[in-house]
Amino acid sequence: MENIWINEAYRGVVPNDFQGKIGWSSPSNIALVKYWGKKGKQIPQNPSISFTLSECRSETFISFEKADSFGFRFFFEGKENPAFGAKIEKFLLDYQAFFPFINQLSLKVESRNTFPHSSGIASSASSMSAFVMCLLEIENQLVGKVELDLQKASYFSRLASGSAARSVFPKMALWGATDCYKGSSDEYAVPLENDIHPIFKTYRDSILIVSGETKSVSSRAGHGLMENNPYAPARYTQANENIKNLLAALKSGDLDTFINITESEALQLHALMMCSNPSFILMKPNTLRIIEAVRNFRNETRIPLCFTLDAGPNVHLLYPENEVEQVDDFIKNILANYCVEGRWIADHVGDGPKKLA
Ligand code: PMV
Repeated sequence: MENIWINEAYRGVVPNDFQGKIGWSSPSNIALVKYWGKKGKQIPQNPSISFTLSECRSETFISFEKADSFGFRFFFEGKENPAFGAKIEKFLLDYQAFFPFINQLSLKVESRNTFPHSSGIASSASSMSAFVMCLLEIENQLVGKVELDLQKASYFSRLASGSAARSVFPKMALWGATDCYKGSSDEYAVPLENDIHPIFKTYRDSILIVSGETKSVSSRAGHGLMENNPYAPARYTQANENIKNLLAALKSGDLDTFINITESEALQLHALMMCSNPSFILMKPNTLRIIEAVRNFRNETRIPLCFTLDAGPNVHLLYPENEVEQVDDFIKNILANYCVEGRWIADHVGDGPKKLA
């Protein structure tokens, strides 16, 4: 892969009048089978599957103009923020062999999230994929191409921030090589849209904000802790098994299996952090209260509502679109009491990145 894209990199002289502004909006995603543990350059230890979200997005613009050397400024929500921009700048410098033209450009990056910064929702998947889409679009303008290559966008999004590889595709994506899915790769995600039952194409994700604090362990540190985790080999075996069974359930619309795997994956992710050294407990008391209430609600109503968790205390409630009224009532009447200031975000499976400018 790398060779193809190094070979096709634009190495010409950037024309003096080359300038413009590109914008992309890209969504966050929520993993069902989790990526936790990596090797080499952002290669996952096991494959993962996610829903692409719709409402939680990053909107990123790059203004560019010809310059004598690489110039870079980063603005977050209207204010210059070199600390936030540092990860993008490092990515560009690390991978300049693929994008040598950046050394003849001055870039001004402006980014904002549609979800509040204090919502505890990780924004690296949405922001890094939005940035990569803009960068590839600039390259396309230089070489005279029109269509964005989504596989390439996923590949470079992965290098910028692992799970960002999956945000590039509509509905659902699989990232990581598995024998159960032809064309799957550790280097980029592939779209699952054509291999899932229609019920999943409009699935809802209501995100309950149990804490708005930033995570106490970064995902980079969390992945690193898997290297010495005694349960890591068993985890990777089980994740592969879960991928196989989830792919089948996604195809047939088997909600019992979907719920079973999704909840087990969320709890495994947290269990792995609890038995890492040092260990981390990322759930809060209200996370557990919500989990218990969700399971009771499911038993009592037979509504196929289930939960998943990211590497933090907030709870993602997943359910079919036709259950939205009853689940909304349940959230408003009961679960919102466990959220900071009663806050939750109504999201759903979405159509992937959109071009803004
Ligand atoms: O993409 P990263 O390095 O931030 O890791 C993401 C890890 C999880 O969000 C916990 C799981 C996943 O697969 O998205």
